[in-house]
Amino acid sequence: MLSPVQKPRPIYVLNGPNLNLLGVRQPHIYGSTTLADVEAMVTKHARHVGLAVTFRQTNHEGVLVDWVQECRTQAEGLILNAGAYTHTSLALHDALLALEKPIIEVHLSNPHTRENFRHFSYVCGPAKREIAGFGALGYVLALDAMAQLFVEQPS
Ligand code: DQA
Repeated sequence: MLSPVQKPRPIYVLNGPNLNLLGVRQPHIYGSTTLADVEAMVTKHARHVGLAVTFRQTNHEGVLVDWVQECRTQAEGLILNAGAYTHTSLALHDALLALEKPIIEVHLSNPHTRENFRHFSYVCGPAKREIAGFGALGYVLALDAMAQLFVEQPS
C-alpha cells in the first residue's frame, strides 16, 4: 500500500544581522549569492523534502528572540544563522533553550577557522548541531538534515 501523502512540516529559517547584505558584504568570505537567492533556493528545496519554510532576516536582537519564541507554537524546527549574535547574545541562547524543538545552527563561513572572537557560540549549546563553511549550500544541507531528523522523530 502507498503511504499517505505527508503534510509538509513547518519550520523557520531565521537570519540575523548583516545577512541582508549577502552578495555584497565581503563576498570572498560569504560568497556572491544574495539572501533573496538563498530564500528562493531554500523554499524550492524545502518542498522536495516535505518542509514548509518561513524565511526571515532581522538586524535586531529582540526581534530575533521574538521569532525564536514564535517558533514554539508555529514551527516544528528551526534553522538559524544568527550572524554576529551567535557570539554575543545570551538572550538568544535563553530563547533557544526554551524552544525544545530541533535546531540546526548554520554559518556560511566557518567561524572556527576565523578570528578568536568567532570561536564561541551562544547558539551551539542549545542547537547541538551545526553546519558551517559550505556557503549558501549549508542552508540546503540543513534542510536535508532537518527532514531526516523528522523521519527519525515523526510528529
Ligand atoms: C556568519 C559568521 C558570523 O561570525 C558573522 O558574524 C556573520 C556571518 C556566517 O554565516 O558565516 O555575520 O554567521
